Amino acid sequence: MENKLFLCVLVSCWHFLNALFRVEVPQTLYIVDYGNNVTMECRFPVNDHLELKDLSIIWEKQEQNTKEVYKLHKGNEDFTTQHSDFSGRIKLFQEKLKLGQSLLQISNVMFTDAGNYLCLIGYRGADYKKITLKVRAPYRNITTRTVPIQSSRVHKEKVLTCKSEGYPKAEVIWQNGDYHDLSNKANTSYETGTNQLYHVTSTLTIDIRINETFRCIFWNKQLQENTSAVFIISGYDEDNSRHHGLIGVAAFFLVLLLLCLFGIKKAREYKYSRTCTKNSLPDVTDVRIEET
Ligand SMILES: *[C@@H]1O[C@H](CO)[C@@H](O)[C@H](O)[C@H]1NC(C)=O
Ligand SMILES: *[C@@H]1O[C@H](CO)[C@@H](O)[C@H](O)[C@H]1NC(C)=O
Ligand SMILES: *[C@@H]1O[C@H](CO)[C@@H](O)[C@H](O)[C@H]1NC(C)=O
Ligand SMILES: *[C@@H]1O[C@H](CO)[C@@H](O)[C@H](O)[C@H]1NC(C)=O
Ligand SMILES: *[C@@H]1O[C@H](CO)[C@@H](O)[C@H](O)[C@H]1NC(C)=O
Repeated sequence: MENKLFLCVLVSCWHFLNALFRVEVPQTLYIVDYGNNVTMECRFPVNDHLELKDLSIIWEKQEQNTKEVYKLHKGNEDFTTQHSDFSGRIKLFQEKLKLGQSLLQISNVMFTDAGNYLCLIGYRGADYKKITLKVRAPYRNITTRTVPIQSSRVHKEKVLTCKSEGYPKAEVIWQNGDYHDLSNKANTSYETGTNQLYHVTSTLTIDIRINETFRCIFWNKQLQENTSAVFIISGYDEDNSRHHGLIGVAAFFLVLLLLCLFGIKKAREYKYSRTCTKNSLPDVTDVRIEET
């Protein structure tokens, strides 16, 4: 009831009070990243000294049912009628009031905070202004993965995966090094969590022998923003190379063992006691070179 009366004083009947009292906004639009803090500002005229007990401020969000965000009534903060959407996330910078600044901070901004806000100020006059808040979540971190798969006995492929989250929904575009569009060969899935963010996963399957550069682009049409990740794929088959490496090491030790045994046999034949130590290695390599 009192609030309504206050609103009347502020909004409808302000011109009866003081036509010279004007609220100004340095910025009518704020765009903030999801989860960050935003501070919106309204300014009002204060001469040398602020009489706090004469100052009343309301910040409210315009919706079907107006939601009260913050109230300062005759110099005293009043959170009793604050809407639960904002509880614990609102701060008005008291120390700035004497400068004629009503700075409202919303912390941990959510998508539901987006919309129009009114700041109403009464101080030996009354006026209000509207501010718009937009909330976004860019697809900033793209995590990538390359997994080789054996799709059949002879046919090997690699699956390239790009994963990110953001808001609003982004389209995923795949390109090769020549900027040729491969999106129709990709598979993109969307999931929404409790935080309203879109969890986007896109995969592209390619032939394992291909040497190419691939790029996945998260195209956030509404924000006019593209973020991308690049894959530099070498047709060199890492799995096979590792196997080759292991076989090589095994073969080397086998040859070494055989040569050692051979060396011991020789030493015995010459009745010359000789152990197979590191010192015998040069002989071993010599023998090997001779063999090849
Ligand atoms: C956001 O505001 C809260 C509450 O005032 C504060 O604890 C936090 O440090 C702020 N975060 C950033 C990134 O400024
Ligand atoms: C995204 O990247 C930023 C900066 O590198 C990092 O601080 C943040 O934790 C990352 N977020 C996720 C979800 O990986
Ligand atoms: C996309 O995924 C579905 C289900 O996993 C699969 O049936 C379909 O073949 C895939 N499409 C492409 C182009 O890979
Ligand atoms: C984002 O990428 C898409 C596809 O490559 C392109 O059509 C669009 O113009 C790009 N938008 C911006 C803002 O770069
Ligand atoms: C890919 O590159 C590697 C090394 O640069 C080369 O050995 C291989 O033959 C190339 N494969 C194709 C299919 O071009």
